[in-house]
Amino acid sequence: MKHQVQTPILLGVSAAILLVFSINASAAVDVEAAKMMARENSCFKCHGISKPKDGPAYTEVAAKYRGKADAEAHLIHHLTSGEKAKFPDGHEEEHKNMQGKASPEAIKNLVDWILSN
Ligand code: HEC
Repeated sequence: MKHQVQTPILLGVSAAILLVFSINASAAVDVEAAKMMARENSCFKCHGISKPKDGPAYTEVAAKYRGKADAEAHLIHHLTSGEKAKFPDGHEEEHKNMQGKASPEAIKNLVDWILSN
């Protein structure tokens, strides 16, 4: 009798664990590493996750690029080229350039995290 009750619970627990692992594997974003990198590089000075500051909120960036196949490549370029960024007051200055400051893998992880917001 005891057995019959425990088996479905155990199955449910294993399914939940499997689900968590497969979600992590498909997204493959290291959220903590991305946030730490954003903090260390003062990204949050100009960007909130969901609150716009001088730059767009990351939720807005993610919405803007949702479903666009070249989103990742485009944002990696944005973060490694020092291209001009337009500020709300109309002035333009070079955007923060991460080229040489972090590994390509870390920059990709940061971009994937931004796109996942
Ligand atoms: C001094 C302020 C400032 C800092 C620091 C800053 N940004 Fe930005 N960022 C901006 C502004 C302003 C824009 C809007 C650019 C535009 O639309 O021309 C922008 C745009 C962006 C975009 C959207 C680009 C697009 O194509 O839509 C991303 C992504 C981004 N920043 C990520 C970052 C990351 C990651 C960091 C830290 C490494 C960072 N920013 C640091 C001001 C800043």
